[in-house]
Amino acid sequence: MLRIERLKVEVGGKEVLHGINLHLPKGEVHALMGPNGSGKTTLIMTVMGFEGYKVTQGRIYFKGVDITHLPVYERARMGIGLAFQRPPVVRGIKTRQLIEMCAMGREVDVEEIAAALNFTEFLDRDVNLGFSGGEMKRSELVQLMAQEPELVLLDEPESGVDLVNIALLGRAINRLLGRELEPQEGTSLKELRKRYARSALIITHTGHILDYVPADKGHVLINGHLVCSGNPEEILHTVEKYGYEECAKCLR
Ligand SMILES: Nc1ncnc2c1ncn2[C@@H]1O[C@H](COP(=O)(O)OP(=O)(O)OP(=O)(O)O)[C@@H](O)[C@H]1O
Ligand SMILES: [Mg+2]
Repeated sequence: MLRIERLKVEVGGKEVLHGINLHLPKGEVHALMGPNGSGKTTLIMTVMGFEGYKVTQGRIYFKGVDITHLPVYERARMGIGLAFQRPPVVRGIKTRQLIEMCAMGREVDVEEIAAALNFTEFLDRDVNLGFSGGEMKRSELVQLMAQEPELVLLDEPESGVDLVNIALLGRAINRLLGRELEPQEGTSLKELRKRYARSALIITHTGHILDYVPADKGHVLINGHLVCSGNPEEILHTVEKYGYEECAKCLR
């Protein structure tokens, strides 16, 4: 679904990512962890194609197609979607209008999607204007549910969201990823996921969202280097116990 090769990225004239390799197969969920300022947001903003993130080396492939230099709207049309860490306010556009735009011409039941995220009362307000932190995060997910991207990039989806709404958010993400599938006779859940499910790269500090959306793999980014890829639970446990210093040792 996504292959990143030897990626170097400059932001504001400074190199932030120093040669990232990452492979996210179809149907898998990967967690991206790392200290503040390590380059996590930079990585997914670059995959989405936002301006200001200058690729100076390497390639990004989505479903085998080199997208390194495609504009953001083409990547969105191809099936990549992103939920911002800090979404912008858009005055003069109602959230309902934006959700309809996200559907890119397909029929979507905005009311039903909003209801699933406890979001109905916000549909007729300007996008993110005066929204609380948790309301913005739910708004981001409602938009993604209308877009139905094949590759979902989530930047700290649970930050600022209360416990009840994290559960709703978790269910919605599983639905978005097609992870509600039940194994059928003769087909394992793993095979089903490969066939139907979408993929996600989820940035998380606490790992709380992974209680609802289990990750297949975790990655640790430190100072613009991917220093570790492995079992997400083990990584979280190690970081909790010993801090990121333990992960940094792998750099040597
Ligand atoms: N426009 C910019 N101009 C200058 N520096 C920038 C710019 N955008 C990002 N940076 C710097 O790039 C580094 C990586 O930032 P990034 O937002 O990717 O970190 P992060 O890993 O997502 O951190 P956090 O966990 O705090 O969200 C930081 O040092 C940040 O200050
Ligand atoms: Mg960030």
